[in-house]
Amino acid sequence: MTACSRSIVSRQTLPHQDLARRVTRALAHPLRKPLAAHTREAFARAQQWRHRRGAAPLILDAGCGVGLSTRRLAAQHPAAAVIGVDRSADRLSRDHGRLPDNALLVRAELVDFWRLALAEGWRPAQHYLLYPNPYPKAAHLKMRWQGHPVLPVILALGGRLELRSNWRLYVEEFALAVTQATGVAAEAQPFAPGEACLTPFEHKYHASGQALWRLVVELPHAPGLVPGGALPSVEERD
Ligand SMILES: C[S@@+](CC[C@H](N)C(=O)[O-])C[C@H]1O[C@@H](n2cnc3c(N)ncnc32)[C@H](O)[C@@H]1O
Repeated sequence: MTACSRSIVSRQTLPHQDLARRVTRALAHPLRKPLAAHTREAFARAQQWRHRRGAAPLILDAGCGVGLSTRRLAAQHPAAAVIGVDRSADRLSRDHGRLPDNALLVRAELVDFWRLALAEGWRPAQHYLLYPNPYPKAAHLKMRWQGHPVLPVILALGGRLELRSNWRLYVEEFALAVTQATGVAAEAQPFAPGEACLTPFEHKYHASGQALWRLVVELPHAPGLVPGGALPSVEERD
């Protein structure tokens, strides 16, 4: 263990007291943020790529960083179409070797990409949230996916949803939010990647001896979770 990566430092020691209120709010109030033009274009290209892959089951790698996990998931699931999405052009452009034919890396804003995906009826078989930015300050709850207004869209896509983090509280909060929003039981569990780390962040944390946590939940495709009008209209998508 030679790596040295700092553990999450937060004054928060329990699930945020405002979490349930924020989830209730996300389920009741439509998210009206306009779609970024670059994400609309990126989504259209991803849609065309998917069509070319026929009925291949879809795996989404949301916040894929440099795309190593996208490559590894594509190698592990050769019959699937694996799409890695990240907003960082810099990370996506790093050279990690040839992209498998069944993988696509997309530069896009996830909040918009997810809404477009749901509006187009995408149903990922698997959906990964691998080491999302933790936003450990309590005041930043609304930037964590479980406190974000886009949460109902993430859950509504359905499929096998897997979240991993080195911050136990993040995964515990996400589990509470999943159960509140969907009624499906979810819990944070310790996770040991062994030799086969899926992402660079996972490798860094694991090599530093940090505990890792994950949540895996099977969700139905449930567009009705999203409050009325929260999905982009056809005109917006044109
Ligand atoms: C901590 S890194 C983890 C990257 C990778 N999953 C890993 O484990 O190595 C979080 C990633 O999420 C991306 N990200 C955060 N918020 C995003 C958003 N709203 N839309 C798209 N990407 C986002 C960041 O650019 C960053 O690459």
